[in-house]
Amino acid sequence: MRIDKLLANRGFGSRKEVKSLLKSGSVQLNGIPVKDSSKHVKVESDIVTVHGEVIEYKEFIYLMLNKPQGVISATEDHLHDTVLDLLEMEDAVYKPFPVGRLDKDTEGLLLLTNDGQLAHQLLSPKKHVPKTYVAIIEGEVTAEDVEAFRNGVTLDDGYETMPAVLTIISSGLRSEIEVVIEEGKFHQVKRMFEAVGKRVIYLKRTKMGPIPLDETLELGEYRELTDEEVTLLKTYTKK
Ligand code: URA
Repeated sequence: MRIDKLLANRGFGSRKEVKSLLKSGSVQLNGIPVKDSSKHVKVESDIVTVHGEVIEYKEFIYLMLNKPQGVISATEDHLHDTVLDLLEMEDAVYKPFPVGRLDKDTEGLLLLTNDGQLAHQLLSPKKHVPKTYVAIIEGEVTAEDVEAFRNGVTLDDGYETMPAVLTIISSGLRSEIEVVIEEGKFHQVKRMFEAVGKRVIYLKRTKMGPIPLDETLELGEYRELTDEEVTLLKTYTKK
């Protein structure tokens, strides 16, 4: 791989900026300053440093974001901030995209990656990847609702959902619930509650497949998945 491509990959700026960085003499290849942008490096064995710091190439990035309300889970939007606006430049350069969507007013776990294959597997309806949400519902959620969700409900457009596991955490004028669904229809959780005559007033995703939201992340914060988490996701989707 060309050294300028490696440096661009790691967020050292545009082609022009990378070129002037190289010209400045701050980049070394195996301990020797390199100024030629077209110089080839073996990403597995060569050691590239910028200002003495080792730069490693990576193809894929896997992020977990605790999505706040008010941002759109898309890569661009004309009116609102998107989840990509929450990323540091050094991560945004990998051009990650959200794995599926959360509504603008939904919080919680959103995975972002540039690994199209893994994203595709996680979103494939055939894989039935479970997604766990906690929600506050206006009104009392009852055992009948739990049963209705277990049997699958009929959405406003006539679609019959797959069975979903609804657990009542507390019930009253406002109820707190957890629900696990294996599909990802548009506004699915909200529409499932509408199907039983109830309204979701707060929604947060807490888990996707085997990956729970890291609760130490404040709203709007994110971190890279650990190698173990990435392996877990990959083996999970291979099932
Ligand atoms: N279901 C919804 O209604 N909204 C979301 O954001 C996710 C699931």
